[in-house]
Amino acid sequence: MSELYFVSSNEHKFEEAERILSNFGVNINLFKTTLEEIQSNSLSKIAERKAIDAYTKVQKPVIIEDDGLFIDYLEGFPGPYSSYVYDTIGNKGIIHLLENTELRDAKFVAIIAYCNGGNDVQLFEASISGKIASVIEKGGWGYDPIFIPQGESKTYANLSDKDKFSHRAASLKKFSDWFMHKH
Ligand code: IMP
Repeated sequence: MSELYFVSSNEHKFEEAERILSNFGVNINLFKTTLEEIQSNSLSKIAERKAIDAYTKVQKPVIIEDDGLFIDYLEGFPGPYSSYVYDTIGNKGIIHLLENTELRDAKFVAIIAYCNGGNDVQLFEASISGKIASVIEKGGWGYDPIFIPQGESKTYANLSDKDKFSHRAASLKKFSDWFMHKH
């Protein structure tokens, strides 16, 4: 099987992806770099561009991941802008925006994009429903301390088995089903 690179600047994502994919018999290497992130309302379009940029940099089969946290009460915000929003107002800002409401439903979406040359990109999307916590829990990374997956009482930050529920695991499962079949 040819080498497969997970291209990202986020080592947390890679660590989780490596662990998840190894359970499906797929090995990945980290190629650490920052990818071009276009402005778009569509996660798929962002993921597609990122995958093409990643292939251009690595010149080997690559996967990239693009995620978004969509909060119902905020009409899907931050969605495709999740990274920018995390870096600016952060978890504190999100909790503040939801201060006066009980409507805390949200979903975390992950798209895995695979590219092995040209403009041919395969997308694998999955999402997990959940809620935004009312206080920021300790631990985890990114939005982990405020996202409670459906059926759980703790946030991602405090679940020892995050991989069982995560948006990342669900999209990687779809990818590996396709990838293993293809090889
Ligand atoms: P990105 O644009 O794909 O890097 O992701 C959007 C935002 O969601 C970034 O701020 C990530 O740190 C965050 N994010 C993605 N996946 C997770 C996760 O599993 N836990 C916590 N935050 C995440």
